[in-house]
Amino acid sequence: MKIAGKNIIITGGASGIGLAFAERLLELEARVWLLDRDAAALAGVTAQFPGMNPRLLCRECDVSLEPQVIDTVQAIEDASGGIDVLVNNAAVLRDQALVSKLRGRVNKHSLADWHETLQSNLTGAFLMGREVASMMIRGNRQGVIVNISSISRHGNPGQSAYAASKAGIDALTVTWSQELAIYGIRVVGIAPGFVETPMTARIPRLFLERIRDKSPLKRFGTLAEFGHTMQYVLENDYLHGKTVELDGGLRF
Ligand SMILES: NC(=O)c1ccc[n+]([C@@H]2O[C@H](COP(=O)([O-])OP(=O)(O)OC[C@H]3O[C@@H](n4cnc5c(N)ncnc54)[C@H](O)[C@@H]3O)[C@@H](O)[C@H]2O)c1
Repeated sequence: MKIAGKNIIITGGASGIGLAFAERLLELEARVWLLDRDAAALAGVTAQFPGMNPRLLCRECDVSLEPQVIDTVQAIEDASGGIDVLVNNAAVLRDQALVSKLRGRVNKHSLADWHETLQSNLTGAFLMGREVASMMIRGNRQGVIVNISSISRHGNPGQSAYAASKAGIDALTVTWSQELAIYGIRVVGIAPGFVETPMTARIPRLFLERIRDKSPLKRFGTLAEFGHTMQYVLENDYLHGKTVELDGGLRF
């Protein structure tokens, strides 16, 4: 796919990796719609781009809520004439063990955190994928869906909900690649290892340093490296049904 001139939605785009994707795609002359449920973060993005790049549009949307997703995709279609790329990037991290014992007390994983993680990370991607794919098919528009997974997708202690959500994301990538190819829609995943963002700021520093030291390259990824990978995923028309691992060789 040639990126210039394409209409691209990035969910969870007001922060971290999603914002880095947006910056790279704007440099390549795409029109980018940033969706996020965090209105203050979206306002921060608007302030960060002086004069507001006319090809960057921000819209508040909680991707876990079906009516908001339906309205948002429709509004973007009406305003843009059609969407070429969806990046399912929005996610939350609510790490905790399934059950743990601390100072004689047994703690259990919160059900609310389980639901919140699955709803934002997995149901959100499902709803956005469903609405954007149906819009592409209705409009006879070929396109790409990129699902952001994680190195945690094979399971990781303390991440029941997050790991399950990302394993689910991988399953959607494979399933949709097989269902949507006949409509000219490619589906690809990207599984980050670690890159410093507001999400990793929730992880204790000592733990992060241990992971970095265990990593073969002894460093985390950079946001620019993630932007570069998004460019590769969109431009390579033979990449389909697979998740690209961008983790510097780190293994849990
Ligand atoms: N940073 C890392 O090291 C790392 C590692 C592995 C995977 N990932 C994945 O990369 C993606 C981006 O992560 P990040 O580090 O940039 O995180 P981040 O916390 O900086 O950004 C995530 C954004 O998603 C938004 N969001 C969350 N739930 C939402 C919802 N229901 N509706 C709309 N917006 C919502 C948040 O408001 C936030 O702006 C995520 O899918 C994450 O799981 C990140």
